[in-house]
Amino acid sequence: MSGQNAKNIALSSDGSAVRIIDQTLLPGQLEYIELRDREAMYEAVKMLRVRGAPAIGIFAAYCVYVLAQGYGEAEFFSRLDADCAYLISCRPTAVNLSRQVNRMRALAHGMTGAPTADIVSALGREAKAIHEQDVAMCRAISEEGLSLLHPGDTVLTHCNAGPLATSEYGTGLGPLLLAAERGMDIRAYVDETRPLLQGARLTAWELQNAGIDCTLICDNMAALAMAQGRIQAVLAGCDRMAANGDAANKIGTSGAAIIARHYGVPVYILLPSSTIDLACPTGADIPIEERDGEEIRSLWYAQPMAPAGIRCWDPAFDVTDHSLITAIVTEKGVIYPPYDVNLKKLFG
Ligand code: MRU
Repeated sequence: MSGQNAKNIALSSDGSAVRIIDQTLLPGQLEYIELRDREAMYEAVKMLRVRGAPAIGIFAAYCVYVLAQGYGEAEFFSRLDADCAYLISCRPTAVNLSRQVNRMRALAHGMTGAPTADIVSALGREAKAIHEQDVAMCRAISEEGLSLLHPGDTVLTHCNAGPLATSEYGTGLGPLLLAAERGMDIRAYVDETRPLLQGARLTAWELQNAGIDCTLICDNMAALAMAQGRIQAVLAGCDRMAANGDAANKIGTSGAAIIARHYGVPVYILLPSSTIDLACPTGADIPIEERDGEEIRSLWYAQPMAPAGIRCWDPAFDVTDHSLITAIVTEKGVIYPPYDVNLKKLFG
């Protein structure tokens, strides 16, 4: 499993393109695509061919490296700055995108005056380091998350926070994948996650591939599952965590957390430090992406399932209030409230 998903994002063999699994084709087709120009890179993020907060950060870092190979000396920094701004503008919610692009840009600017070839080589090493750091962080998060579960537990997942959304193991799915490797019996109910079905298409695929006992449900079935005592924990990833612990994640996460609070089920948000934005005071300060209503009206249906022209509102994320989160699981350990104090202590 982890070996297969290690290829989720990589450089092409000659280093002139970024190679990704086209996630829009899963679970029906496992196809890789190579991206060389900035428009194709932008489109891949916008259309969720590559998606998940850590994954789009890693992808964008490789994109900066690939694009920089084509800059002449005189135009190097103006093109770098323009391409970085363009990539960052693609999706607003996951902080990993801007964080990793800005890290690449800062490295290059720090080498002003050095030969262009040296800057490009350093960018290649930096992108690889960003990727390797995510692998290590996800592994640590998975260990920490697993320490909160017990053999025989069944968890609820929302969206996809597995290897496809990161580098290896994932965040929200990491404990499940680690448990399976160790022969520990942890099961999952998988929210399908309307409207883009990341749960049905991606999480169910990853968990099935790993041989994990999983059951797919519609998002609106979670309350009954919790009322009947079928779920012992909610595990979710995160796209941006504010300084007070408010967590923006796929639309529907906050609903699952509210239901879980009602039924006394713990909610764990698992994320790497690259997703924590201490400059964002609260969830109200996190920009929420709004997408094309056609995702609700007709995407995935053989025929449109709503009247033509009906107005749709399609926010891609919501914010789970920190008061609903039982614990935050990071690569540096499990954090409990008060989150504003404890996040700053560990990551400030
Ligand atoms: O719109 P998506 O599919 O990019 O949204 C992804 C999520 O909301 C994930 O849960 C989040 O990025 C955490 S991934 C480790």
